[in-house]
Amino acid sequence: MKILITGGAGCLGSSLAERYTMMGHELLVLDNFATSTRAGIRATRNLVLVEGTIADAALVDKCFAEFSPTHVIHSAAAYKAPDNWTEDIATNVQGAVNVAHAALKYKVKRVVNFQTALVYGTPEIVPIPVEHRIAPISSYGISKAAGEVYLNMIAGEIPYTSLRLANICGPRLAIGPIPTFYQRIKAGKPCYCSDTVRDFLDMEDFHTLMDKVMEDAATSGMFNVSTGEGHSIKQLFDVIAQYLEHVPDQPIRIVPPGIDDVENIVLDPKRTQAVFGWQSKIGFEETITRVLRWYDEHGVTDIFSHLAAPVVGKTE
Ligand SMILES: NC(=O)c1ccc[n+]([C@@H]2O[C@H](COP(=O)([O-])OP(=O)(O)OC[C@H]3O[C@@H](n4cnc5c(N)ncnc54)[C@H](O)[C@@H]3O)[C@@H](O)[C@H]2O)c1
Repeated sequence: MKILITGGAGCLGSSLAERYTMMGHELLVLDNFATSTRAGIRATRNLVLVEGTIADAALVDKCFAEFSPTHVIHSAAAYKAPDNWTEDIATNVQGAVNVAHAALKYKVKRVVNFQTALVYGTPEIVPIPVEHRIAPISSYGISKAAGEVYLNMIAGEIPYTSLRLANICGPRLAIGPIPTFYQRIKAGKPCYCSDTVRDFLDMEDFHTLMDKVMEDAATSGMFNVSTGEGHSIKQLFDVIAQYLEHVPDQPIRIVPPGIDDVENIVLDPKRTQAVFGWQSKIGFEETITRVLRWYDEHGVTDIFSHLAAPVVGKTE
């Protein structure tokens, strides 16, 4: 395959890029390093690295024209500044439109889009089925939802899959509570837990599904990607504290979710399991521990969040 990965230097993109280059595929990664580092990806004989933004239609067209991808994984997303709606629109909407146009123009064989569970907004039922209504409440969720709707318009012409993802845990994870707790506990800084529940999926389980999604005969459409199992952020903290042999001198504070946060997100993977014959295999504690072992070896980079910090967190 000749695979073009937008956002291919990020956590998911770089992990897939590593895997596909090892499998002998040719890759082109287009990334502006907004939430990743140059050290996270390396140009090689079969990996072309292009620095730039997917918001630049001419650059996106040039990448497609020169590389002639057979497959596209659209992983680039803007989320790091919750108030920067303009950047979210440029990357998550205009960028998605540019990718959709180029995929049609250069007749690629398949497009796979990565979607956030935040498109569902505050869910009416949990676990959230893939047919749940779309009602995002943050700029990240709104712009990603719009980008997905534009990408859906290619579905009649090109096999197209959008994967709505749980928290995928693996190397270079630089967003959310796992790197935050790890770094703060190691630095002796206090932590607090938002009173929320999330689902966590190991990168290895994600790769197993991606292998099936990228097959020529794979079913297209929307799919939730999750274990289907929810865990509180306090449970997550406990796993990390135990791993670091940290005993808090006072009970950890549990704070209400911020206004742009969602209390309970657990995706229902039943349809995905049935269609792809896929099932996650790695348990919650092992999933988290694998990331912590990776941090032990490689360290934690800058940490990003798509959330406005709850007031209690802002001064710490
Ligand atoms: N990791 C998860 O658990 C998770 C969960 C839900 C959805 N997603 C989605 O999966 C995708 C990848 O997420 P991730 O966790 O790897 O995040 P990430 O931040 O590590 O990767 C995103 C990459 O996109 C790049 N990027 C941002 N704006 C860009 C632009 N305008 N042009 C080119 N590149 C740009 C960033 O520099 C980064 O390398 C995103 O679309 C995200 O919405 C991820």
